[in-house]
Amino acid sequence: MRIGILGTGGMADALGTQWRRAGHEVLAGSRSGGLREAAEFGTDAVLLALPYTAVVDVVAGLEDVLRGRVLIDCTNPVGPGFALLTAGGPAAAERIASVAPAAPVVKAFNLCHVDVWRLTPPVFDGRPLAVPLCGDDEAALTVVRRLVRDLGCEPLNAGGLDRTGLLEATAALLIGLWVGEGADAQAIAPPLEFARPAL
Ligand SMILES: NC(=O)c1ccc[n+]([C@@H]2O[C@H](COP(=O)([O-])OP(=O)(O)OC[C@H]3O[C@@H](n4cnc5c(N)ncnc54)[C@H](OP(=O)(O)O)[C@@H]3O)[C@@H](O)[C@H]2O)c1
Repeated sequence: MRIGILGTGGMADALGTQWRRAGHEVLAGSRSGGLREAAEFGTDAVLLALPYTAVVDVVAGLEDVLRGRVLIDCTNPVGPGFALLTAGGPAAAERIASVAPAAPVVKAFNLCHVDVWRLTPPVFDGRPLAVPLCGDDEAALTVVRRLVRDLGCEPLNAGGLDRTGLLEATAALLIGLWVGEGADAQAIAPPLEFARPAL
């Protein structure tokens, strides 16, 4: 695949390195150069690895080249005090979709710290990391599922774009538990056999 990455920070480096290793062509750009070139390059997918506070304006400015591109949104609209910056309004992914209506958006990779995305592979206690995806476009989801598997992770269907707010709120909750409380947030969920009525 040809993958463009908007941003050249930690998430761009972690995921871009993994996808290059998997055999994909990757071009990243930042505001100091190459942002539009990266958007043009990403004919199969474009990762939005920018702060939430910048991503909507950047995508709006590149809307012409992003038409038809699969946009992978890993942003976390989380501010000081682990507050959800989008509370009461559309999710970050929905705001991105509204300024680039001709580009399918898939929310992914937002739940784990950048260092987790550098692991080869991210497997804990013998279980590959599960990566929930939200999006409305089945072809775009298929692309992102493949990119998740290229990391050694397992994609999970987490619903349509209308559920991205839940994924973003989950990130705010988890980051607050991990960073704010030093809590083992993984322990908040029981194993599947206890999590739903017996079949
Ligand atoms: N770090 C994590 O553990 C983690 C985990 C999951 C999701 N995320 C999310 O992933 C996204 C990227 O995080 P990151 O850790 O990669 O951030 P980062 O290392 O700070 O990199 C951010 C990138 O965005 C660029 N940027 C900043 N402001 C910009 C603007 N106004 N216009 C254009 N470009 C701008 C930066 O360019 P300059 O170098 O020029 O400043 C840099 O290339 C964020 O939304 C974050 O919430 C992060």
